[in-house]
Amino acid sequence: MEIAYFNGKYIPKDEVKISPDDRGFLFAEGIYEVVRWYEGFFYDMNGHLARMKRSLKETLIAWPEEDSFPVIARELIRVNHLESSQALIYLEVTRGAAKRTHAFPSPPASPTVYAYARDFIPENEGKESGIGIMLKDDIRWGRCDIKSVALLPNTLCFQEATGKGFFECAFVKNGIITECTHSNIFFVIRGVLFTHPESSDILSGITRKNIIRVARKAGIPVKEEAVAAKKLGRVQEIFITNTSGEVTPVIKIDSQIIGEGIPGPVTRIIRERFNDEICSLKHS
Ligand code: PDD
Repeated sequence: MEIAYFNGKYIPKDEVKISPDDRGFLFAEGIYEVVRWYEGFFYDMNGHLARMKRSLKETLIAWPEEDSFPVIARELIRVNHLESSQALIYLEVTRGAAKRTHAFPSPPASPTVYAYARDFIPENEGKESGIGIMLKDDIRWGRCDIKSVALLPNTLCFQEATGKGFFECAFVKNGIITECTHSNIFFVIRGVLFTHPESSDILSGITRKNIIRVARKAGIPVKEEAVAAKKLGRVQEIFITNTSGEVTPVIKIDSQIIGEGIPGPVTRIIRERFNDEICSLKHS
């Protein structure tokens, strides 16, 4: 039986009841976080906790027990017997349930807090051979830095991409490639690694930050500078990053083959160094 965390209690997932007046349901007024468990530890829990607190602050959602996220996550692993598995923890926090009006509830409603653990078998499809992604106009709102549950543009574009046989969809805003529907994107141009700077146009990925660190440590120069879609012809390598997929090489954008059409040497080094870090954390 799957056990979930719901408003302070650990209960069977199918007993969770969320009000139809919940502002997450009515207004998509909520935030979420996803953290990965590697058979014994959470990868960069501090980074995920800090981002979750920032998302709450920016959406003016008060969850007084916000610092308990790591404890909740760990308890979900324990009660669902996932200690020796790979797993993902999803946490969702909304402004809570109240009579429908645009004004925030006054006095404030208790936030709705829901978290669950899911065992996770990493997909290796594409990791070795590389994937194809498509480009599409960035139709999202102006605060992509908040990890909001309002993901309709992301799911619509992802669905279109997979329907056309692509693995992901990268967004283009004013000619600039920002990020993908659920991952950040990196480019290698003449040995230098480029990625969009932190701004309201991208989610500051935890994997993105760690990959920048790992790349610099490996002696690869990194520039947090955006790449224009029309400059793709100059790009030798591309990869995307996120919590579940780690580093996935991209060998094709729309019909354009990137570099030699195989995962390149910089991507390979970064994947190796990231894997080494995970292995050393497992044994520490
Ligand atoms: N998505 N950009 C967007 C829009 C994302 O939704 C995500 C993560 C990322 C990468 O962030 P991180 O490295 O912290 O996972 C970038 C998660 C995995 C999801 O929605 O499931």
